[in-house]
Amino acid sequence: MLGSKNLGSMNRDLFVVGNWKMYKTAREAAAYLEELLPMVEGARPKIMLAVPYTSISSAAKAAKGTEVWIGAQNMSDAKEGAFTGEIAALMLKEAGASFVLLGHSERRHTFGETNELIHRKVIRALQDDLLPILCIGETASLREAGHAEQVLREQLKKGLEGVPEESQFFVAYEPVWAIGTGKTATPKMAQDAHAFCRDCLEEIFGKKKAAQVPLLYGGSVKSDNVAELVKQKDIDGVLVGGASLEPTHFAAIVNHCKKEKS
Ligand code: 13P
Repeated sequence: MLGSKNLGSMNRDLFVVGNWKMYKTAREAAAYLEELLPMVEGARPKIMLAVPYTSISSAAKAAKGTEVWIGAQNMSDAKEGAFTGEIAALMLKEAGASFVLLGHSERRHTFGETNELIHRKVIRALQDDLLPILCIGETASLREAGHAEQVLREQLKKGLEGVPEESQFFVAYEPVWAIGTGKTATPKMAQDAHAFCRDCLEEIFGKKKAAQVPLLYGGSVKSDNVAELVKQKDIDGVLVGGASLEPTHFAAIVNHCKKEKS
């Protein structure tokens, strides 16, 4: 299978995941990887790139034989069928994707995806052997109203309902107010939210599994704030939007991402 990699056991480590959103054609994706790869050779964090559907194949080909994993940003909850314009997990896999972002805030807020739909997508990704990264996060108004924890618990409980304990998945906490705004959560705010998410995972799966799930932080991550974020006890990596679009910026984030815990 083109560029597909066995993700093996994906317990907590250190991950830098880029989310290109709706940027970069197939040709631009190949050129990006050609520029990025020499700059991150031997880097400590595992590197993952969530790219547009039409760029998966060329990105996977360019990343073949490296430790960079290519993934998608969304998918259908159905295995196949008469769903015009949708894309199935198996199609993404065959193109070279090994993981998929699900429930990104732009999917929830711009495209109206509900916890129920996202849950069905999580189950479908697991069944079809794509690693799901479940994205969760509260809006500014819900945080100000004191409802952030309630929202996070609900997104986690509904998103992961019925997921077998032995499944491999990641959770990405991306406060909506920090996405694309330049307003990063402080390391303490991010750690508090991550610790809360880990407590919720413990309620769902028990202590052992909760301690193993990689939790990523996303929202205006840059090379000058990544180190402080990943120093936090419950932060196992970052999900990067805007700053992942330039190979030099993304490489700087990868190379500043060090796991010295505070
Ligand atoms: P920014 O890094 O541009 O804030 O985007 C974050 C994000 O949405 C990653 O999924």
